[in-house]
Amino acid sequence: MSDLLITQFIGQTALEKLEQASITYRQNQKAKSFDRDQLIEATRGVTAVICLLTDTFDDSVMDALPDLRLIANVAVGYDNIDLDAATQRGILVTNTPDVLTETTADLAFGLILAAARRIPEADCFMRAGKYSRFELYPEMLGADVYGKTLGIVGMGRIGTAVARRGALGFNMPILYSGHRPNQEAEQSLNAQFVSFDALLAESDFISINVPLTSDTTHLFTYETIKKMKPSAFLINTARGPVIKEADLLKALEEGIIAGAALDVFEFEPEISSKMAQMSSRLVVTPHIGSATRETRQNMADIAVENVLAFFSGHRPPTLLNPKVWNAR
Ligand code: GLV
Repeated sequence: MSDLLITQFIGQTALEKLEQASITYRQNQKAKSFDRDQLIEATRGVTAVICLLTDTFDDSVMDALPDLRLIANVAVGYDNIDLDAATQRGILVTNTPDVLTETTADLAFGLILAAARRIPEADCFMRAGKYSRFELYPEMLGADVYGKTLGIVGMGRIGTAVARRGALGFNMPILYSGHRPNQEAEQSLNAQFVSFDALLAESDFISINVPLTSDTTHLFTYETIKKMKPSAFLINTARGPVIKEADLLKALEEGIIAGAALDVFEFEPEISSKMAQMSSRLVVTPHIGSATRETRQNMADIAVENVLAFFSGHRPPTLLNPKVWNAR
C-alpha cells in the first residue's frame, strides 16, 4: 500500500525528496494521462495525490475515493478540481502559484510578437525555400507591437506580469477588465480599468489571463470578437474554453480580427483539423506557458512541499481551502 499517487512523472529530484521522507508512492508510468476510471482505480486507497490539470477530480470521482485527504495540483489553475466538493469532504487542495507567473507572461508576450510579426509563418517560408530577394512589401507584412494598446482580461498575477512587459518594455498603454480594480497595476503601469466592451473596442492586443469559471467560459464568442478592432490580435495562455473556438476560427476566416495566438484549447489536447490547417493568422503552441526547466522543477517542488507538510502534520504552504485545515 502506498501513501501517495503521482499521476505523471514529476522529475527525479522531487521523487528523491519524497523518498528521503519515507513517503511511499506509486506513479503512472504510462505516456498517457489516466482516464476517469483509471484515475479512480489508481488513486483508490491512497491519502494524497500529486496530479495535473488533465486529471479531473469532480464530485463523483471524489465519492469513489473516501480515503483521499490531499490533492496537490501541479498547476496554478485548478478548474480540474471541484474545490467546493473537496472542501465538503474535508479534502485539502493545493496549487503552485507564483513560480510560474513570469514564465507564463514571457510566453504570452512571445505569442504577441509571434502573431504580430508572423514569426512561425516566416520560419516556414524560409524552410520552403521561398525567400528569393529582400522586398519592401513582402508577402508577410506584420503589425507593430511597440506603442500599441494592450488589453488584459484578468489583471491577476500573470495578467500584471504581461502588462508590465507591455508597458515598460514596449511603451504600450494598458487597459484591463475584470471584477475589481488593481491599484498596483494602476499606480506602477498606469493601467486603466475599463468595461469589457471598452477593452474589446480599444485594444490592439488582448491577452486572456483569467481562470476558467462559469463566468469566463465562452467569454469570447463570435459576438464578442466582432467588437474587436479588425486589426487586433487575441492571445490566450489561460484556459481554452474561455474562447468558443469554432467562433474564433470563423472570425479569423472572415477577417473580423487580424490574428490569434493560442497556447490552450477548448477541447485540449485535440484541435480541429480546420485549426491545424490554418497556417496564417493563427499561432498555436501545446500548453507550454510554464514549460521551462526551472519553472516546471519549481512547480514539482511546491507540490512535494505540500505533500511533505501534509504527511508531517503541518499546514500545506499553498493551500486553496483553508476552511478544511481550520476545521481539523
Ligand atoms: C497551467 O496551465 C497552470 O494552470 O499552471
